[in-house]
Amino acid sequence: MSKTYRIAAIPGDGIGNEVVPEGQRVLEAAARKHGGFRLDWTHFDWSCERFLKTGRMMPEDGIDRLRGFDAIYLGAVGFPGVPDHVSLWGLLIPIRRDFHQYINLRPVRLLDGVESPLKGRKPGDIDFYVVRENNEGEYSSIGGRLYAGTDMEMALQQSVFTRRGCDRVMRYAFELATKRRKHVASATKSNGIIHTMPYWDERFAAIGKEYPDVRTEQYHIDILTAHFVRNPDWFDVVVGSNLFGDILSDLGPAVVGSIGIAPGGNINPEKEHPSMFEPVHGSAPDIAGKGIANPIGQIWSGAMMLEHLGETAAASSIERAIETVLAAGEPRTRDLGGTASTKELGEAITAALG
Ligand SMILES: NC(=O)c1ccc[n+]([C@@H]2O[C@H](COP(=O)([O-])OP(=O)(O)OC[C@H]3O[C@@H](n4cnc5c(N)ncnc54)[C@H](O)[C@@H]3O)[C@@H](O)[C@H]2O)c1
Repeated sequence: MSKTYRIAAIPGDGIGNEVVPEGQRVLEAAARKHGGFRLDWTHFDWSCERFLKTGRMMPEDGIDRLRGFDAIYLGAVGFPGVPDHVSLWGLLIPIRRDFHQYINLRPVRLLDGVESPLKGRKPGDIDFYVVRENNEGEYSSIGGRLYAGTDMEMALQQSVFTRRGCDRVMRYAFELATKRRKHVASATKSNGIIHTMPYWDERFAAIGKEYPDVRTEQYHIDILTAHFVRNPDWFDVVVGSNLFGDILSDLGPAVVGSIGIAPGGNINPEKEHPSMFEPVHGSAPDIAGKGIANPIGQIWSGAMMLEHLGETAAASSIERAIETVLAAGEPRTRDLGGTASTKELGEAITAALG
């Protein structure tokens, strides 16, 4: 009996509308090739364009509408004319929080055929995961302004670090490391941030004790960013708070080539709620509408979605197809030094599916 997965597709803004269809093309082809499952898509036009017409990124019952889906496949949100905090807090953050997608997982892998901006790095030299806490930390809505517009004006923003929140993201990182090279590095700043970060370190040490076979290291975020550039081969799994993880998970993809190929997952590991898969990049207004965006980040995020759904064979065949096309050297989009369109690259990856 063939399984059907209900997928909510939210292309969003800008190049999201160009790369999501290519992701769907490859996912559909992978489902046909592997058999045993089908994908039932429902499209939502939730976006900044919708915000400008209706005053909301998504309808009031948006979260309830998504609840019954097996997964969410998102492009990107954000566009000039709508402040970025509106698009983020009006759509992405509520989905991540209400569905307890407390893991933001971003693989960082240097692939054959992609040039790293770092001198002398070869495919295989860089291969690690950034595990970012995705529900609390520095990204909290607690705070406000006092005496606005006067010379006593002040802004306050609270960080929230709970034992439950720290422990579960750290356990996820350690579990992932047990299946890999058994090393977890933690991003901290306990020298400067004297309440939350020593607490983060304390929980990291406590959870680390549960995994005696996994080696650990902790770095202050400032030197850690330098190590990402100078010694990316040191890392296997890197765990960080919401803010530090956010920064590291853009820096990671940057050291392995184009941001256009980097995938990501917002994961509810217990599978009590739908998880959401989206590329690391944003809506790229500078190239939107031209059909030249690289669709690989979106396609690879689709592979992560299939993996999460348990369709591991189809997921790895998509990853292999991406690797084959990149290693062949063409077609390539402009960010990788070629002239191909978004569609041409999507079609080539579809054709390369084994
Ligand atoms: N998760 C999300 O939805 C998300 C993430 C990041 C940024 N954003 C939003 O996107 C908008 C633009 O943000 P930004 O400019 O900081 O980041 P961006 O990732 O959209 O673009 C950064 C640069 O990378 C290029 N680029 C990005 N994706 C590419 C692709 N697939 N192929 C080729 N080139 C690509 C762009 O052309 C641009 O020069 C903002 O509104 C921001 O809030 C959304």
